Amino acid sequence: MRGIKGKVAIVTGASSGIGQGIATRLGCEGAKVIVDYIGHPEGAEETERAIKDAGSDGEIVKADVTRMHDVQKLIGAAWERFGSADILVNNAGMERKSDFWDTPEGDYDQVMAVNLRGPFFLTQAFVRRLREADKPGRIVNISSVHEDMAFPGFATYCCAKGGLRMLMHDLAVELGPLGITVNNIAPGAIATPINRALLEDKPKLNALLANIPLGRLGTPKDVAGMVAFLCSDDASYITGSTFVIDGGLMRNYHEQ
Ligand SMILES: NC(=O)c1ccc[n+]([C@@H]2O[C@H](COP(=O)([O-])OP(=O)(O)OC[C@H]3O[C@@H](n4cnc5c(N)ncnc54)[C@H](O)[C@@H]3O)[C@@H](O)[C@H]2O)c1
Repeated sequence: MRGIKGKVAIVTGASSGIGQGIATRLGCEGAKVIVDYIGHPEGAEETERAIKDAGSDGEIVKADVTRMHDVQKLIGAAWERFGSADILVNNAGMERKSDFWDTPEGDYDQVMAVNLRGPFFLTQAFVRRLREADKPGRIVNISSVHEDMAFPGFATYCCAKGGLRMLMHDLAVELGPLGITVNNIAPGAIATPINRALLEDKPKLNALLANIPLGRLGTPKDVAGMVAFLCSDDASYITGSTFVIDGGLMRNYHEQ
């Protein structure tokens, strides 16, 4: 896609699932990629290898998006290693299931910290650098269909992703004059580690598949293609929108 080659992208949670797919795709399009991870370095190494095999360059950075020190370190790494950055993909995310009336304070804090506070302060650190350099930029948040759609048992996740939607709406207005676009991608059911329990529960999985008009789960590649488009020259006039990638699920959803 035109406009990505030579750019520098920072992708959070890039050692597995959708983040790994996005980092790899951007690398295949010729972007240099900062591969953020926590936990398992093997996944990050796999991502970095895929980027290098595609002929581009990558740098692995271990950074927890809930920690301010790590947030600064992650954004700074792009400038230190590649001299600049153009693209931020806020992908890292997690969910905890509980009935609303039983939700522990710790779960609320952690889900909000990873899915909303992290993107807020990462974006702030990224925008500060862009302003200093008088540079345009692209921000893509991996939100969820649950930025808009109810998800019983996951009120914390809905709060965080709904907040991410409003953050994107607001920042499209605040950052537009700086030449920075901000958009969300709202995946439906994608086959990744976050859905391990569902993928192993055949009756529940089959019930879900029956609700998906296109008849299959999505893949990280389905999401990564939209990220590449939003980072390309063809998307230069697109900001403030959510792009749903769900095989039609949102139009046909029934909670079991
Ligand atoms: N898979 C789906 O069906 C689906 C649907 C809608 C939205 N999403 C969103 O897509 C994004 C990626 O999820 P996924 O499906 O690839 O699952 P995943 O579990 O493979 O990926 C989540 C990644 O975030 C990382 N992460 C978690 N906490 C972190 C922290 N504090 N700091 C840095 N990284 C952290 C994890 O290590 C992991 O690599 C998430 O934001 C998720 O909410 C996924």
